[in-house]
Amino acid sequence: MKSLLTMDQLSTEEILAILHEADEFSKGKTWQPENQTFVANMFFEPSTRTKCSFEVAERKLGFQVIPFDAGSSSVLKGESLYDTVKTLEAVGVSAVVIRHEKERYFDELKTIHIPIINGGDGCGHHPTQSLLDLLTIKQEFGRLDQLHVAIIGDIRHSRVARSNADALTRLGAKVSFSGPVDWFDESIIKQGTYLSIDEAIEQADVVMLLRIQHERHKMISSLTKEEYHQTFGLTLEREKRMKKHSIILHPAPVNRDVEIASELVKCNRSRIFKQMENGVFIRMSVLKRAIQQQNEGEKIYETH
Ligand code: CP
Repeated sequence: MKSLLTMDQLSTEEILAILHEADEFSKGKTWQPENQTFVANMFFEPSTRTKCSFEVAERKLGFQVIPFDAGSSSVLKGESLYDTVKTLEAVGVSAVVIRHEKERYFDELKTIHIPIINGGDGCGHHPTQSLLDLLTIKQEFGRLDQLHVAIIGDIRHSRVARSNADALTRLGAKVSFSGPVDWFDESIIKQGTYLSIDEAIEQADVVMLLRIQHERHKMISSLTKEEYHQTFGLTLEREKRMKKHSIILHPAPVNRDVEIASELVKCNRSRIFKQMENGVFIRMSVLKRAIQQQNEGEKIYETH
């Protein structure tokens, strides 16, 4: 598949191949397309990491990045997402990266011919975040199986939790969840075990914290930030009870002193900035595959 919309469209072999190639990119591998390649990053929701790392990945691959600003595009005049993407396809853009607040926005783009890379759809999916999390774990432990990954926080509204739980389980890891129970839903509970925050912290090899997605709900409930931190957060005291080799991940942006104590964001266990670094290499691998498959498809089309 030339588009990457959800993790479940990738086989375990494809996931491992992307991780392997991203690791090679991290060690200096280079690749350039044969022809001039234009790409556009269409972000209809705020982003720092995903947007910037896609752009760096695109430039490293020698692509020409078309500036697209949703706030000054004809979307403001009422143009649909489909017509906007179709316009970019018509002017010669070879692939688009899209982040949109609407879950499964890509369902309305099924007849678009160019690859679409999902940079996040509402509470739905964020496949490149999941891949960069997997790469960070694999680099640390040399494997993904037989590891316990505890995903902690606002599970229900996190596009990262769902993508990661599915992929990690398929790759042989044990996944557990922790956080406010009323922020869970049935579908996610089926993918792992529920543990108290203290059980999760003490048992996990990877403690993956999630931000409270305030922009998607008003469920901060009666807890103040400090109360949330003490009840569900990685406090300085809890970090001391983590296993010796365990690491901390967080997709970021981080709410310091809410889901994680500020002092722990850059502690020895933290791989939060490593995740960001790996984001560039994962996105290089995903973009390379998308463009190669698109070019291959066009060659087949031309010869018929
Ligand atoms: N992790 C992540 O998606 O960060 P941004 O929202 O800054 O892109």
